[in-house]
Order: sequence, then structure tokens, then C-alpha cells
Amino acid sequence: MTSDSKDNRREFFSKIASEYDKCAIERLGYEAHVKVPTKLLELHNKRQGLVLDLACGTGLGSLLFFESGFDVIGIDFSPGMIDVARSHPYKKLYCQSIEDTLPVEDRSFDIVTAIGVWEFIEDPPRLLERIWDKLIDGGLCGITIPKQSDAQNELGIHTYSPERFIQFVDKRRFDIVDEIDFYGWESGHLGEVLGETGLPHHRIDYHALFLRKHK
Ligand SMILES: C[S@@+](CC[C@H](N)C(=O)[O-])C[C@H]1O[C@@H](n2cnc3c(N)ncnc32)[C@H](O)[C@@H]1O
Repeated sequence: MTSDSKDNRREFFSKIASEYDKCAIERLGYEAHVKVPTKLLELHNKRQGLVLDLACGTGLGSLLFFESGFDVIGIDFSPGMIDVARSHPYKKLYCQSIEDTLPVEDRSFDIVTAIGVWEFIEDPPRLLERIWDKLIDGGLCGITIPKQSDAQNELGIHTYSPERFIQFVDKRRFDIVDEIDFYGWESGHLGEVLGETGLPHHRIDYHALFLRKHK
């Protein structure tokens, strides 16, 4: 992604921040923010811990962790999204790219999530390494992989077959403990929300991967 398109994306998310939760849930039928944390809570099987929510946006993907008594640190590069996230009880919020050095301690998180963001990530193996650095031994990670689609060219996002993405996962560092598939989002609905009639119609499905850092 060029720095221009990165800036555009950051601005885009800041622009829609105040409407994001309503649009994502009611218009786009988004459910990743529930599916991924629900599975992680089931796998973690304790009612406490420290969570790192990468690309936390307005905070949707952190809500179940707050409700379950976890401490959560969020990072997102969009100032508008972070402003909305401030209404939630984050231990700390950082406004920066998750593709840069992460400003949190190594080996300190029980759970790391990165939900709804791999569409925009340039170097997935590098981000997986950064996640590994931040997890404690035995810590869990939950991510959403946008499944292969020609939206890749028309919308300028990244999509993958699950088999291709799984090649990025270093099996000496992580075990794949679960995988689930579910609906992601539709660009047609996004177009309606933005009042853009010319946006090509694509449906993005997610393949969620759940990884455990080797002890
Ligand atoms: C579709 S939203 C998902 C937000 C949240 N995780 C959720 O599930 O509701 C994508 C988020 O990724 C953020 N984002 C995209 N690229 C990023 C990057 N390189 N670093 C940090 N945040 C990024 C955007 O600002 C936006 O908040």
C-alpha cells in the first residue's frame, strides 16, 4: 500500500467513526467482533487476563472482554476511531499503525486480537511475528483472514485462500488451535452507507484463525 492510500484509509475510518458501530452491525451485518472474542474466551477459559486489541477501531471487538473482566489495551491508526474508543474502559489506547513497532511490553499479553484489519496489512508474516513477541507463552491470538475474492483488485484490499495465509504462520512458534468461517462484510452495503453508488459489489467472507504461542 502506498503511503497515500494508507493516509486515505486512515481518513476514511476517521470520517465514518461516529457512525461505524451502527453501520457495521445494522447495515453491514458485521459479526466478526463477536465471533472472534467469543471463541477466544472459550479457549482461554479464565475470567481474567490482559488483552491487546490491534486495530481496535471504536472498540467493538473489545466489548466482550470488558464485560468478562479483562484488561484491554487498544491500538488503531485512525484518530477518529480512537476518539470513539475512548468511551470504553481501555487500560490504555495508542493511535499509531500496527505495522510499526508496537509500544507495549513483549511477552505480556494473554490474548492478542486483530479483527477486520488483515485486508489492509502489507506484510502479514511480520505482523504475526510482532504478535508472537507480545504474547506470553501459551497465549492466544485470534485474527480474521478475508477470503480470496476478486475484490482484491477492484477494492484494492488483500484477500487470501486460507491455505495460502496459513503458510505465513510459523509452526515452530504457533499451534493452530481452531478455525471458523463466517460472513465478513459487503462493499455494496458500504457504498449505501457512504452514499457511493459506483462502488463494485463484493461480499467478503472471513476465515478466522486461532493460534496459541508454543510454551
Ligand atoms: C473494519 S475496522 C475494524 C475495527 C475493529 N477491529 C472491529 O472489528 O470493529 C478496521 C480498523 O483497522 C484500522 N486500521 C487499518 N489499518 C491499520 C493499521 N495499519 N494500523 C492500525 N490500524 C489500522 C482502521 O483505522 C479501522 O479502525
